[in-house]
Formats: sequence, C-alpha cells, structure tokens
Amino acid sequence: MTNITLALGDITEQSVDAVVNAANSSLLGGGGVDGAIHRKGGPGILDECRDVRASRYGKGLPAGQAVATTAGRLPARWVIHTVGPVFSTAEDRSATLASCYREALRVADELGARTVAFPAVSTGVYRWPLDDAARIALTTVRDADTAVTEARFVLFDQRAYDAFETAL
Ligand code: AR6
Repeated sequence: MTNITLALGDITEQSVDAVVNAANSSLLGGGGVDGAIHRKGGPGILDECRDVRASRYGKGLPAGQAVATTAGRLPARWVIHTVGPVFSTAEDRSATLASCYREALRVADELGARTVAFPAVSTGVYRWPLDDAARIALTTVRDADTAVTEARFVLFDQRAYDAFETAL
C-alpha cells in the first residue's frame, strides 16, 4: 500500500528515490519546479533529456506521459519528468492530469523506486486551481496499483499545503 504524505518545502531537497518534474513537452527546461530541478541537479539532466527527445520523443513528450532520467546532483536518484495539461475552462483535461500521476508511478515501478516526491503538477504556470488539482492528484495516487511505498506531495507554500491537507 502506498503511504501518502504531505510536506511543505522544495522538491529539489527531498531525499527520496525519485522526484517528479512538472516539465513541458520540450523537456528542455523552464521555470517553476522544472527550473529548480535543472538548476540544482546540474547540466547532466538536460543532456539526458536531449537524448530522450532524440531517441524517443522527437515531437516532444505529450501531456500525461512520463519519462525518467538520472538526478545529477540532487539527493534523489532519478527525476521522472511528466508534462501536465494547461488548465482550460473550455475542455475538461482532468484525465490528462490524472495520467501524469499514474504514468509517473508506472515509471517509478520500472525503475524500482520506492519513495517518490511529487509537486502539484499544473498548478503553477499551467494555472490549474489548487483544490481541484489536489483532489485529482490524491485520488489517482490512492487508487494506483504500484509498489511505491511512499508518495510524498511537496507543496511550495502554505496555501498549496492547506489545499492538499483538506483534500486528503
Ligand atoms: N518545489 C516544490 N514545488 C514548487 C517548486 C519547488 N522548488 N517551485 C514551484 N513549485 P510549475 P506547472 C510549485 O509552474 O504548473 C515550467 O516552466 C508551484 O508553486 O512548476 O505544471 C515548465 O517548464 C506550483 O504549485 O508547473 C512548464 O513550462 C507547482 O509547483 C510549466 O512550468 C507547479 O508549478 C509547467 O507548469
């Protein structure tokens, strides 16, 4: 059974087997979590992302999917990059957001990662409302069939932490 835990802090400082990155399809970096992971993890992660693009995802990683690289100088062993959907009021993209968590756990299982730290995917630059994102994230991880023993949601500020605590 996966133990779901919440932490207030910076995902790049987590001592877990794998940290999940809220990336974009290019896998070539950006702001938010993505910027912090590449900045602290060092350039090796970007080199691996370029290889992933060249060998498997020439058009970019589609939203809802996940791929792993090593984690460079981060305390974690792996980074699992996933691409969240941009929030839309015109279209319900909840299934894609849920897929980010399910696919990240599937990749974690492939790697043999047992402890995984997640950010609140899509709730920053991609503007997904926190309460709804928290509900989708938590129910998806709760219902996943995975060997991961700890799924740690790392929330960057008190508002995000409170949203996840309420949803939990
Ligand atoms: N640790 C934990 N959470 C963080 C950190 C951190 N170091 N930094 C920000 N957050 P975002 P998205 C929170 O924008 O919405 C990038 O440019 C933040 O407060 O990182 O999926 C990518 O390249 C928010 O609650 O990801 C993409 O282009 C949550 O993490 C795009 O942003 C996610 O915010 C992806 O947007």
